Amino acid sequence: MRIFSGIQPTGTKHLGNYIGAIQQFVTHQDRGEALYCIVDLHAITVAYDPRELRRSVYDLTALLIAAGLDPARCMLFRQSGVPQHAELCWLLCSVTELGRLQRMHQFRDKSVAQRELVSAGLLVYPVLQAADVLAYRAHEVPVGEDQREHLELMRDVARRFNQRFGDGEEVLVVPEHRIPEIGARIMDLQDPTRKMSTTSSSVEGTVYVLDEPDAISKKFRRAVTDSGSEIVRSPEKPGVSNLIEILAVARQVSPEQVEADMASARGYGDLKVATAEAVSEMLAPVRERYVELRADEQRLEAILREGAQRAIEIAADTLADVRDVMGLGPGAKRRERSVP
Ligand code: TYM
Repeated sequence: MRIFSGIQPTGTKHLGNYIGAIQQFVTHQDRGEALYCIVDLHAITVAYDPRELRRSVYDLTALLIAAGLDPARCMLFRQSGVPQHAELCWLLCSVTELGRLQRMHQFRDKSVAQRELVSAGLLVYPVLQAADVLAYRAHEVPVGEDQREHLELMRDVARRFNQRFGDGEEVLVVPEHRIPEIGARIMDLQDPTRKMSTTSSSVEGTVYVLDEPDAISKKFRRAVTDSGSEIVRSPEKPGVSNLIEILAVARQVSPEQVEADMASARGYGDLKVATAEAVSEMLAPVRERYVELRADEQRLEAILREGAQRAIEIAADTLADVRDVMGLGPGAKRRERSVP
């Protein structure tokens, strides 16, 4: 079983990223061969500062290791360190429908938000994401709910590629997403109808992984809740439902258990305090380890380089097959195969 996921080196990572993705990355590294990629090529599809990007890659590398990724048990690398991602993206463009890319939610939202330039990269973003996963013939992709549309496109691209070029063979593996049951969509504490996100949330509504306990407690205390006082999940109570899910994940219990535990609470205030405490406790060791890890950039670079070298071995094999079936190059591999 091969597992792949990617994460952008943009902004400061928040509780949504941590619960929806990073925690799953850590558990999945023991379920099979896991590859985790810091997607710097995706980060250049919107306005950015090159020096800050380089720093952000190290920030995120240190954060992921602090959260529990172990370079001895997984491959952790930079997307731009493995040239096969960009190459496969171009090749997959030939089996990707333009109209579908134009209709993707993320493209529509992000292109409206761009003040200067809506780059072609923003449109092709999902094809590069498909290439990330398909280059490794990965079986599973742990992600949060907001990546569902990208995963569906990726699966269609893989199917279309196999139909067009596979000649009955599954040259590319059609991957499955792994979206967690609880915490797949953590909402903004100030506006629980919107997901917590790096680009569109308010600072007050966003809990960062590296926030100090005081900041965490302040943000939860001020969290927007709903009318009534009963602590139960319901569509009419998006604020309370969000806090219940966060508390369930932080305490590693079910949301039903949280509702039962909170049955005798005096009101939403108790829920906010309990959630802030549990989240602080969950994130404190990550913050502490981060400081030490971030200080050693050479070590971080060595980890990324080694991860990329191991990843290239797998991706190069897929690309050789892809080029071969697409009729690119002399077709050495196919000839080899036909030799008895
Ligand atoms: P990115 O960097 O925006 O987010 C990283 C991961 O965090 C999850 N996430 C959330 N989960 C729960 N609640 C939230 N509020 C929340 N916000 C973010 C995301 O679902 C994601 O899993 N396009 C991707 C990166 C990518 C990728 C890939 C992912 C590039 N190539 C290949 C998987 C496979 C992205 O922008 O993630």
